Amino acid sequence: MKKKILIVGSGSRENALAWKLSQSPRVGKIFIAPGNPGTARFSENLNINATDINALIEFAQKNAADLTVVGPEDPLALGIVDAFLKQGLKIWGPSKAAAQIESSKTFAKELMKKNNIPTAEFETFSNYNEAIKYVETKGAPIVIKASGLALGKGVTICKTLDEAKGALKAAMVDKVFGDSGSEVVIEEFLEGMEFSAHAFCDGKTFKMLPFSQDHKKIFDGDQGPNTGGIGTIAPLPWTTDELINQVSEKIVQPTLEGLKNLSSPFTGLLYPGLMATGSPSFLKRGTGGVKVIEFNCRFGGPECESYMRILKTDLLDILEACVQGTLDKMKIEWHPLFACCIILCSKGYPDKYDKGFPITGIEAAEKMEDVVVFHAGTAYSSSPPLFQKGGQGGVITNDLSAKALATAGGRVLGVTATGNDLKSALNKAYAAVKLIHFEGMHYRGDIGQKSLFLLNTKGAKY
Ligand code: AMP
Ligand code: GLY
Repeated sequence: MKKKILIVGSGSRENALAWKLSQSPRVGKIFIAPGNPGTARFSENLNINATDINALIEFAQKNAADLTVVGPEDPLALGIVDAFLKQGLKIWGPSKAAAQIESSKTFAKELMKKNNIPTAEFETFSNYNEAIKYVETKGAPIVIKASGLALGKGVTICKTLDEAKGALKAAMVDKVFGDSGSEVVIEEFLEGMEFSAHAFCDGKTFKMLPFSQDHKKIFDGDQGPNTGGIGTIAPLPWTTDELINQVSEKIVQPTLEGLKNLSSPFTGLLYPGLMATGSPSFLKRGTGGVKVIEFNCRFGGPECESYMRILKTDLLDILEACVQGTLDKMKIEWHPLFACCIILCSKGYPDKYDKGFPITGIEAAEKMEDVVVFHAGTAYSSSPPLFQKGGQGGVITNDLSAKALATAGGRVLGVTATGNDLKSALNKAYAAVKLIHFEGMHYRGDIGQKSLFLLNTKGAKY
């Protein structure tokens, strides 16, 4: 019998998961809660919020879902996996205890310390005056992080001591991140090349995915504020087997062992955000110097969008192997291609932005060879007035009968492409981007350039 899948989430990451799962000959029906207009092409959107665990359980029971796949961190941090398992429902993702690796930076840092996992030097504080004293001793640059989940906004890279003090006041006194900031992690500023590792895990063993790279700053040349991630490439053309083995042995393996020792084995996807510190020539040799910036307990977005374009193995087979504890028997195969994802953002993101602007050109873009466009913050605009300048007057819904597509979030679309090399993938994606339009559309023009530069510097091996 073909399987019924329930996906939880509404971003372009979940759109990519639905796209890939829809290609499985073993998948019969995909539901997605709540999904978006892009996911509606491969699945049935549900009017259930991603964090409404009771409603999700009720739906999974009533509709006999064979597997639930959790995209974002919030439901994981709330314990969706524990709640589903308690009802005897199959679900892909880590338990609440294991998800602490992302939901509590203090937990993650202590785990790393205990298990000798390389990371930035740090201290944790819940007392404001002590935190101030510590930054005065350490000086700048220094990094201040709210310990809890803060929608990717809880990290401040402080170039000066004044900035550091301001960040501490904002988190600990003014409580701009609510309770997430009552405890802070203050850590050493790491300089280098940031990249993403991902590993499928079944609680006992793990399988590494190729490395990928996100681009977090809003402007070209890594300028401006941090975002949730607005452009990825996969695989990285400059990585060596040695570097992959190093990350696997020195970071992923001991992290999973450490969680197991706490009686919280990790199932699902572990995504360590990494910094390769040191010079590019060191990177090419692939020895030493890779440190963990943070752990995530789910697929990166938009890393997932690039990964799904090059994954050859049936995704359902992998997810089931994670849940059943049979990952050691799986061989995960990848197309010998490069992929990239360019996120098209609303003007103003990651700060304030307007919604409700009409989007055109997606169909034309998708007619291009090797191009797939995933939706993130889109919606159908219904009932007149369809759109108003500034967007606030338009009624935005998920109603598929209202056919005018509009912007409805900060990250609007993920334009992906594949190619035989990274450059051709990027060229295709940027050509597709040129066909898409909405008012104020912003994207980075330099996705992948740092990696291409590294690849082309003398003596590079990959
Ligand atoms: P996080 O939420 O911990 O991933 O941090 C968000 C972003 O801040 C990371 O992707 C990095 O670009 C940057 N960042 C975090 N910690 C550090 C650090 N210790 N040194 C330099 N950059 C950092
Ligand atoms: N790629 C950034 C994130 O998923 O957090």
